Amino acid sequence: MATDKKRHRAGGKIAVIGPGRVGQAMGRLLSQAGVPIAVVAARKLANARRAVGFIGAGTPRLLRALGPNDATVFLLTTSDSSFAPLAADLARRGTGPQAWKGKVVLHTCGSLPSAVLEPLRRCGAAIGSVHPYQTVPSAAVGVQNLRGTFWAIEGDRAALQMARDWVSRLAGVAFPIRPEDKTLYHLSAFLVCPTVVTLMEQAQKLLAEARVPSRIARPMLRQFVDQTTKNLADMGGRRSLTGPAVRGDWTTIERHLKALRQSAPEFLPVYRALLAAMLRLAGKEVPNARRRAHSS
Ligand SMILES: NC(=O)c1ccc[n+]([C@@H]2O[C@H](COP(=O)([O-])OP(=O)(O)OC[C@H]3O[C@@H](n4cnc5c(N)ncnc54)[C@H](OP(=O)(O)O)[C@@H]3O)[C@@H](O)[C@H]2O)c1
Repeated sequence: MATDKKRHRAGGKIAVIGPGRVGQAMGRLLSQAGVPIAVVAARKLANARRAVGFIGAGTPRLLRALGPNDATVFLLTTSDSSFAPLAADLARRGTGPQAWKGKVVLHTCGSLPSAVLEPLRRCGAAIGSVHPYQTVPSAAVGVQNLRGTFWAIEGDRAALQMARDWVSRLAGVAFPIRPEDKTLYHLSAFLVCPTVVTLMEQAQKLLAEARVPSRIARPMLRQFVDQTTKNLADMGGRRSLTGPAVRGDWTTIERHLKALRQSAPEFLPVYRALLAAMLRLAGKEVPNARRRAHSS
């Protein structure tokens, strides 16, 4: 009985469209949280079948055969560039100009507003976006880390209601984002995830060149970055800054620059740009006597 009530509050059956990493992870988590998954639709039936296996619920369907009557809520987890053409294509399906009335359509992109789904709104659907501020390198990892995470939501009232319900079922935190702020919001995620991965990868290469064995380097980097993020959360950016820039240790910085010129010259502009940003954060400047050495 309690389960039926929970299911009812979920607002009807879901169609997961484009079940890649995020789609499969969300599908499985929502299904486990009592949200009924009716359909899993993909461009290839084999992919839809595989995703149904992973999610543990739903009927596999070819995307081109999907219509508004197949579900109440449509979760679009395809690639960002596909949302606008897909919305236009879906809007042509069903009978009558209001074929999508009473339906909710949500996408999971962090940078695009829900307005990319406008063709579906014109056919009666409530549209929205629900974006996890989380990194999902595989569906299996997503199942682990999408629970309890933070979700930016925006869109029409019914879509927001649905998004809030899902996030609460996944023990997460939903917060509103304005459509016009989504690019900045997404840029912030770009700075702390793929950027950190790229920097860590470069750090790993330098450690290998410095003959530190990888069995040491990997856990050492992990521990170091874990502590750095903890410091930042506990003390804020400025107080967490350590290293030669904040100490004003220009001799060490010049040795870094010399080593980089030899080992990874392509990283010199990155080092210089980050150093300038660090100095701004620390409220320090490069002394005049050192300026030339730092720019060449
Ligand atoms: N991965 C993350 O860390 C992450 C985090 C937050 C939000 N997101 C967002 O979540 C969404 C999905 O990302 P993802 O990482 O899960 O991507 P993904 O693993 O590449 O999965 C995308 C799925 O969409 C399908 N697809 C691609 N283009 C399509 C099209 N034109 N028509 C129909 N289906 C299409 C692909 O199907 P085929 O197999 O047929 O190519 C694939 O199954 C994106 O909006 C992304 O910005 C991702």
